[in-house]
Amino acid sequence: MGGFSLLCFMFFVWVLGFESGKGVWGLACNWGLQSTHPLPPDIVVRLMKDNGFDKVKLFEADPAALKGLGKSGIQVMVGIPNNMLASLAGSPANAEAWVQQNVSTFVSKSGTDIRFVAIGNEPFLHSYKDMFIQTTFPALQNIQAALVKAGLGKKVKVTVPLNADVLQTDSGLASGGDFRLDIHDLMLKIIKFLQDNGGIITINIYPFLSLQADPNFPKEFAFFSNTANPVVDGTITYTNVYDANFDTLISALEKNGFGQIPVVIGEVGWPTDCDPNANIDNARRFNQGLLDRIVKGQGTPKHPAPIDVYLFSLIDEDNKSVEPGNFERHWGIFNYDGSVKYQLNMGKGKAIVPAKGVKYLARQWCVLSPSAGVSDPNVLSQSINYACQYADCTRASPGSSCGNLDPQRNVSYAFSMYYQTMNQRKDACSFNNLSVVTTVDPSQPPCRYEIMIDIGKHDLTASGSAKVAGNGSQLFIFLMIVLALVIDGAC
Ligand SMILES: *[C@@H]1O[C@H](CO)[C@@H](O)[C@H](O)[C@H]1NC(C)=O
Ligand SMILES: *[C@@H]1O[C@H](CO)[C@@H](O)[C@H](O)[C@H]1NC(C)=O
Ligand SMILES: *[C@@H]1O[C@H](CO)[C@@H](O)[C@H](O)[C@H]1NC(C)=O
Ligand SMILES: *[C@@H]1O[C@H](CO)[C@@H](O)[C@H](O)[C@H]1NC(C)=O
Ligand SMILES: *[C@@H]1O[C@H](CO)[C@@H](O)[C@H](O)[C@H]1NC(C)=O
Repeated sequence: MGGFSLLCFMFFVWVLGFESGKGVWGLACNWGLQSTHPLPPDIVVRLMKDNGFDKVKLFEADPAALKGLGKSGIQVMVGIPNNMLASLAGSPANAEAWVQQNVSTFVSKSGTDIRFVAIGNEPFLHSYKDMFIQTTFPALQNIQAALVKAGLGKKVKVTVPLNADVLQTDSGLASGGDFRLDIHDLMLKIIKFLQDNGGIITINIYPFLSLQADPNFPKEFAFFSNTANPVVDGTITYTNVYDANFDTLISALEKNGFGQIPVVIGEVGWPTDCDPNANIDNARRFNQGLLDRIVKGQGTPKHPAPIDVYLFSLIDEDNKSVEPGNFERHWGIFNYDGSVKYQLNMGKGKAIVPAKGVKYLARQWCVLSPSAGVSDPNVLSQSINYACQYADCTRASPGSSCGNLDPQRNVSYAFSMYYQTMNQRKDACSFNNLSVVTTVDPSQPPCRYEIMIDIGKHDLTASGSAKVAGNGSQLFIFLMIVLALVIDGAC
């Protein structure tokens, strides 16, 4: 008996090891699609799986993304943009059509594991004034009814992603948390409805924005390893704004009789460029601290149980609105092309790994011609303005990674970004004869002159990765059979 139980024991250790290798601690992320050159969905799905993500949130029901997530083992929260709320609130038939086209189809035809529909995105944000106050709750009700009607009521739950500004606290402490007065009753109705239908609360938390918005905010309090500025709140001592923000919500929920409803964090992260506090060191520090907590299953002082945390964000998006600030395009833990920005330990000693199978355009750039007469500054600035109207020039803004270029390189940066964004079209490097194509990389750390990925026909080669996965799982099944035989013989 002694001999075989050791073998059986080793088998179970191996199985457990395999399970944890797949990321049972459950990392979750946001996959935004506001890019001029989006990565092919199969590459993104593999990127997520390779890095231990098993949950993803989409801001819209993008068909290619939803299809790509089919049979991936990744659970999906799919969002409805705010501008669709009015129509969905307006008629149950609209909500039914939405669910049919954007949920049911993918669940049944593609095998996409959709678990949540997120109604709107931060619809009660102060800066939206009251634009979505009337439509959010009816849209929520109509979508919930439509999910039930489609036979998805048990599998797919509803939520409303909230900005932390739905909360207020008179004392300035987490324990004083309650819902903002102007939406207090509406919030209670929504939360009651979510609770009655098995839905969840989704809250977005932004320590970076707390720091960015307030010059007096104690910087260390934005991070997790802070010991400098603790905030004492009754019996609890808060060492970071993340815990304090989350617990402000928990206090508000408890105060209004909803202490039991599940809460997830829909967005949290740190950008890497285009703000004095947005850089690689700060982003790595914050996100590593966050990941370490997630891997440990650490909650907050008032919510010690593990929390599902959707990291914001997986990849950079060069076509996002910069209204909040130029940093808005640089939240990814990966660059837009799935390359690694900075080292992260994704849990259990696993280092972050880049996207595989990405196809790039040729290694060439468009720069200011050495022979160009730069005598007319108007011509130059017109050309830059034109280029940056279509391409993302945020990195060239003052205080950013390309903010210290000499005037010639600065012009070249704008030309080059335009040229890449236009897929290196020949006529995209002809700024009044001021520009010329070069194969010499103009990058000078920390300033990187991108090469865009190939989003043309050649993208179809990505099926190669699916083959490798097929090979891998075949190998796994083979090993399982061999092991089962060995165990069967031994036990
Ligand atoms: C970028 O965003 C604008 C405005 O949202 C949109 O009109 C445009 O089609 C987008 N461009 C690309 C290439 O996705
Ligand atoms: C979802 O379904 C509606 C039909 O109600 C359609 O108009 C819409 O474009 C679909 N896609 C997204 C991304 O919402
Ligand atoms: C450099 O170019 C960017 C646009 O790419 C522009 O916003 C910035 O003002 C320029 N800087 C200088 C010093 O000319
Ligand atoms: C650019 O140069 C070509 C010939 O080298 C000339 O024919 C053309 O007119 C020039 N275009 C501009 C806008 O200067
Ligand atoms: C398995 O992988 C090998 C090379 O790694 C490849 O040549 C072969 O086509 C793959 N087979 C399948 C069934 O995907």
